[in-house]
Amino acid sequence: MHETILNQFQRDGYVVLEDFLRPAECDELVAAGIEITKQIDENARKSVFTTVKDQENRDTYFLESNDKIRYFFESDALGENGELKVDPSLSLNKVGHALHLLHPIFRCYTYSDRVKAVCQQLGFKEPAVVQSMYIYKNPGVGGEVIPHQDITYLHTEPVPPLGFWIALQDATVQNGCLWISPGSHKSGIHRRLFKKQNNTLEYDRPAPVYPQSSFTPVAVPKGTCILLHGNVVHKSAHNNSDKSRHAYTFHVIEKKDNNYSPENWLQEGKEAPFLNLYTTSQMA
Ligand code: FE2
Repeated sequence: MHETILNQFQRDGYVVLEDFLRPAECDELVAAGIEITKQIDENARKSVFTTVKDQENRDTYFLESNDKIRYFFESDALGENGELKVDPSLSLNKVGHALHLLHPIFRCYTYSDRVKAVCQQLGFKEPAVVQSMYIYKNPGVGGEVIPHQDITYLHTEPVPPLGFWIALQDATVQNGCLWISPGSHKSGIHRRLFKKQNNTLEYDRPAPVYPQSSFTPVAVPKGTCILLHGNVVHKSAHNNSDKSRHAYTFHVIEKKDNNYSPENWLQEGKEAPFLNLYTTSQMA
């Protein structure tokens, strides 16, 4: 019997969908991602994004990015005084978190029939995209992402969030592909990040340590979409290769009969509504 993506998703906590995008579609998104790097405003605050140092916790630049397209730099790309040490095109860790609403090309691919079909197959009744990111993972500077569950940052219950992670370039062990711990979505929620009243962020406990042997590298060719259960533990390594590993990722939540934590860093706003994916147009 043909195994459905729902079976795999429930068993492993992730599903690999090859050829989700065609090569030319990936190239269009990569061109858009590179174009964004040409618009880096030198006066814009250079916010270093590093999950290793937890710097985002104190960063209002990050907190206010829910309804904007903001830049997050690699720590290895900036000098002590925030000056760029590499070419701007190689300096970014990511941009986020409202590409799906504000950027016409990313909006088009996010609210596509393919994405809607996946949500239907996984049983979503009223799915909404709540955040989106373009991840650069550039050669030499692309930083490590420590093991985590997405639900740490985006708490919903009883239905956890769903991550779409789309490789826009080949993702290999050398350039920092995802490593996933199969079945770990059945082990509960290991850590939560809370937004406090004074607009600071705080974890409820230290980052858990997971044995390396629990992870499987999920190297995929460009155009592949990896669906991630909100509770599955995943990570990626520093990019020590000479090839970039661009990806587009976004998260979907269930809105029907489901609780969205008011303590999540990301909140729905006038400029960043959690629109029903099934009924939202690809055009702004
Ligand atoms: Fe993640």
